[in-house]
Amino acid sequence: MNFLKIMIVAFIFSVFAFGQISVVNSSHNLSSSGPVAQASDDQDRICVFCHTPHKGSEDVLWNRDNPVTGDFLVRAGTGAILEEGSLKCLSCHDGATAVNNLVNGTTADFTTAMGIGTIIGDDGSGNPVLVGSGNIGTNLRNDHPVGVDYPIDGTPRFHDAIDVDLAQLINSKVACASCHDPHDSQFGAFLIASNNGSALCLDCHDR
Ligand code: HEC
Ligand code: HEC
Ligand code: HEC
Ligand code: HEC
Repeated sequence: MNFLKIMIVAFIFSVFAFGQISVVNSSHNLSSSGPVAQASDDQDRICVFCHTPHKGSEDVLWNRDNPVTGDFLVRAGTGAILEEGSLKCLSCHDGATAVNNLVNGTTADFTTAMGIGTIIGDDGSGNPVLVGSGNIGTNLRNDHPVGVDYPIDGTPRFHDAIDVDLAQLINSKVACASCHDPHDSQFGAFLIASNNGSALCLDCHDR
């Protein structure tokens, strides 16, 4: 391969890779430019469904209220408590809280605009909620534990915390962000790393 060809191939790969690591091409783009089948008809801002530049929460300028129910069924585990990191995700993925329930930005702006279909459905009261695979519900006992403390060092069949990528533990607990990055779906399903050969699981579990 001559130099030009190498450069062209490198360029194509970089464009491809660059495109994949953005929220823009992901199913977390709920704006009118997004790939989500039932994205907003007229809202062209992408980040607004999760962040606002002003008058948001002090925590990452979050633009969403907490989930409508505080009654998540979680697994019993050491110090099990759902913390902000997971509640942020559940403010859409509980299938009960309106996707357009924003702190800064009137709900009405989105209600009429949001298409209704197989991904974003109607909760029965005209509010757009996640249905289908995105709806993991309020019973989290059938999901991987979140809000549980990571086991102390020396616990059989778990790697010591120091050997786990610490970015994966939020306040030394497992949270949605232990496995997912909401901005980047390059590994599919917004995973933080490839789970080929269950690599992600084996990072914590010593099996
Ligand atoms: C579907 C929800 C969602 C969307 C859409 C979204 N974010 Fe986020 N963002 C989050 C969550 C959750 C966090 C906190 C957890 C984390 O850091 O990953 C966060 C954290 C951040 C942070 C601070 C922490 C960090 O990773 O540096 C920045 C900056 C940020 N987002 C920028 C953006 C921008 C810019 C956009 C639009 C292009 C965007 N986000 C779209 C959910 C979202
Ligand atoms: C503003 C609403 C919203 C928030 C907040 C949100 N999501 Fe999503 N998420 C969606 C929508 C809409 C989809 C597409 C659903 C579908 O395709 O069925 C989705 C899809 C996903 C998927 C599946 C992607 C795939 O390719 O299969 C994962 C995983 C996911 N979200 C994780 C998270 C995590 C983790 C958080 C918190 C860090 C989060 N989401 C926060 C709206 C949201
Ligand atoms: C221990 C790792 C881990 C944790 C913690 C985790 N997930 Fe996932 N999640 C995954 C993996 C791996 C997949 C991909 C499954 C597949 O491709 O079959 C996934 C898939 C999903 C999907 C796509 C639908 C599906 O069932 O495949 C959604 C939505 C989702 N996760 C949301 C969440 C939310 C919200 C949280 C926090 C309450 C969370 N996840 C916590 C590992 C995790
Ligand atoms: C960030 C670290 C981490 C990652 C990554 C991780 N786990 Fe876990 N896993 C835990 C912790 C912590 C527990 C709960 C231990 C306890 O409190 O008993 C757990 C519990 C479990 C359980 C037992 C649930 C029960 O019923 O008690 C299973 C099964 C499991 N994980 C499978 C997986 C699979 C499959 C993956 C990959 C998709 C995965 N884990 C990724 C940390 C992790």
